[in-house]
Amino acid sequence: PVSIENKIPIQDIKILKKKLNGYVGFANLPKQWHRKSVRRGFSLNIMVAGESGLGKATLVNTLFNREIINHENDIDDEDISDKDDISVKIKSTTAEIEEDGVKLSLSVVTAPGFGESINNVDSWKPIVDEINSRFDSYLEAESRINRTTTVDNRIHAFLYFIEPTGHSLKSLDITLMKQVHEKVNLIPIIAKSDTLTEEEIAAFKGRILDDIKAQGIKTFSPSDYENDDEETVLNTRQILQKFPFAVVGSTKEVTTADGRQVRGRKYPWGVIEVDNEDHNDFIQLRQLLVRNFLEELKEQTSNNLYENYRSEKLKKMGIEQDNSVFREFDPLTRQEEERALHEAKLAKMEAEMKAVFQQKVSEKEKKLQRSEADLFSRHKEMKDKLTKQIKLLEDKKVQLEKQKTLPQDPPAPAPQKSRKGFLR
Ligand code: GTP
Repeated sequence: PVSIENKIPIQDIKILKKKLNGYVGFANLPKQWHRKSVRRGFSLNIMVAGESGLGKATLVNTLFNREIINHENDIDDEDISDKDDISVKIKSTTAEIEEDGVKLSLSVVTAPGFGESINNVDSWKPIVDEINSRFDSYLEAESRINRTTTVDNRIHAFLYFIEPTGHSLKSLDITLMKQVHEKVNLIPIIAKSDTLTEEEIAAFKGRILDDIKAQGIKTFSPSDYENDDEETVLNTRQILQKFPFAVVGSTKEVTTADGRQVRGRKYPWGVIEVDNEDHNDFIQLRQLLVRNFLEELKEQTSNNLYENYRSEKLKKMGIEQDNSVFREFDPLTRQEEERALHEAKLAKMEAEMKAVFQQKVSEKEKKLQRSEADLFSRHKEMKDKLTKQIKLLEDKKVQLEKQKTLPQDPPAPAPQKSRKGFLR
């Protein structure tokens, strides 16, 4: 395949900077983009995971200020009765929401049952399978001839709820995060942070960050944000400083001591406000997820996480990928890659068919061998029988011949008549 760098060496590309004499119109491009984006609408797929009762549904509903997930218990009664084996299920809820004429198509994936079983060794598996299968569907859709209708169901953000124990991460937390961190934009959250004091939260955050670092777990961070304008950089730094976000969720309005109506949780000693930066990190989480980095989350999913998954998958299928900058944009290379993918699929199918054929042939052969052995044993049986009969007959013959050669006894004298004609 011909790539751009083969045609023109990079050092020979000259960029001419010219002043415009009049208004051309491309300064209008952001407006065009804006209009088109608003018309099309936006989409976001979030996965929320964590043990039961940590306030996952409440937080999602608080984030979007409406009931996206209802509080029905997701686990069946029969599951609860058997705590040894509660299976993790995957549930998906979608909602079309609108704010100031801008539409957002939201999909929230939950994993009820996670961490509920006594033996949670493999409870991360259904979650990872779900993430992988969404990548696979996208990869398959991309390889189709018609790609105009490809729907992006990949997980763009993964909110992991940590129990507010105040100690450190549990082994289940570490296992799950290690299993998903290279496939999703991982955002760890300390659930129900109103149950901890400010000092406890600070110490807990420190220990969680230490664990995350020690375990080599990657969490979401906006790329290249330092090159933004000063205010945005400052704002992003403030958001990232709060990692892992210690949040409080509540969709209910309560009255504060000074008479304000706020979303929060009321306690005998006062009110914890959801939308108050001094009370918890909810605002920073919402800024990261929706206000500032929704598109960044999607871009990182597409350009890094999915690309890694895709190239790993292709490598496993025997297709090597060179990660040069131009490659992604080279249609010939792309076509070549797709052809290779298609050929690999065909080869796999052929290998499977061959395996089935060989299995059938070997079964037939075994059957034939069995009937051959059967025939052979029957033949042997008959032969033995006949040999025995021959031997018997020969023995008889020998006996008869022996009798023939033995000297004959003289014949017994015939009975004589008396003179009177009477037999004596
Ligand atoms: P499952 O569906 O079982 O997985 O639960 P969940 O994680 O979705 O929790 P849910 O949102 O149903 O909340 C469980 C309970 O915790 C409810 O009684 C909520 O009112 C309460 N709750 C939710 N968020 C918070 C919070 O931030 N702080 C406190 N103290 N309680 C909360």
